[in-house]
Amino acid sequence: MNSRNPIIWKDHKLFLLDQRLLPQEEVFVEVNDLTHCALAIKNMIVRGAPCIGFTAIFGMALWIRNTKEININTVRMACDELIAARPTAVNLSYEVNRCYEMMKRGLQEKKSIEEIYKDLVSFGNEQIFLSGERNLAMAKIGVADLKKRLGDRQWNLMTHCNTGFLACGSLGTALGVISHANSLGMVKHVYADETRPYMQGTRLTAFELGKEKIPYSIVVEGAASYLMSHNKVDAIFVGADRIAANGDTANKVGTSTLAIVAKHYGVPFYVVAPISTFDLATENGNGIEIEMRAEEEITDLRGIRLAPVGARSVNPSFDVTDHRFITGIICEKGLINPQIVGELERIVTT
Ligand code: MRU
Repeated sequence: MNSRNPIIWKDHKLFLLDQRLLPQEEVFVEVNDLTHCALAIKNMIVRGAPCIGFTAIFGMALWIRNTKEININTVRMACDELIAARPTAVNLSYEVNRCYEMMKRGLQEKKSIEEIYKDLVSFGNEQIFLSGERNLAMAKIGVADLKKRLGDRQWNLMTHCNTGFLACGSLGTALGVISHANSLGMVKHVYADETRPYMQGTRLTAFELGKEKIPYSIVVEGAASYLMSHNKVDAIFVGADRIAANGDTANKVGTSTLAIVAKHYGVPFYVVAPISTFDLATENGNGIEIEMRAEEEITDLRGIRLAPVGARSVNPSFDVTDHRFITGIICEKGLINPQIVGELERIVTT
């Protein structure tokens, strides 16, 4: 098995690369049923908005294969168990609700359980495959816009959290733009935020940049202002977990601070995300639920206590970046200027 494919479906079984152990160990975990799948999502064996959604599709396939009592009510309950695993990334409910519709149709058309199961498995594999094409389309849009803005030269780029193949199952969103720019010889250096407290930048983005031989440095989030005020960053690319109708964007905690600093120093700030991350039913960022995670993720580091005994912490896993701080939102259908009212909906729904 190859760590470039963090989600593998083989011989009726789901294998997930355990991202908690990276980069020291590359271990795949076998996931046997829906509850195990929901736990793997909750405990971040698999993470990143697109990968969470793809994993859940295979979770539904495991469920239908293992379950005796299958009707529209039990299907809905299974879907809801998965959706509850992580609340902020809308890709999870987007993919699970597509499975629900597919299963409902299958039951109405009196398809056999085996047929519905096969449909779910091919749907999961197809979504991972299509994400490769979509990510490349977004990468091309990102590079073209940056070329227009900054000219045909090598760029210093910055990113937050992890948005490459580990999060997307293929090229990646924000990191996809960076990889693509690098393949064209346009990347001078990448600054990867360490991404406290879960260290997705230090552990995962650095792992991916290293595999791609892209020159990089890990920086603490607090270095953003230093780097930008010393003209060390030409542009910033980040991913998203949910984008509201007005362009307000939920992403890993710290993204919003980065965007505000970027606005102050006039550094272009892009959000890169597929259509499955847009939530047009949510008017603005105030309506996005932010996942609160365990206090130990902050007070401890891999089981070692850092904070004094009894110290408390507050651990919002995401924050919302106001659309006014975002230069452009890139999806597979094009580049959205979030300052133009209605443009997001027009591009996403055409
Ligand atoms: O908590 P995580 O690691 O699942 O958070 C991931 C992020 O915030 C990513 O930036 C986001 O999902 C976009 S992935 C293309």
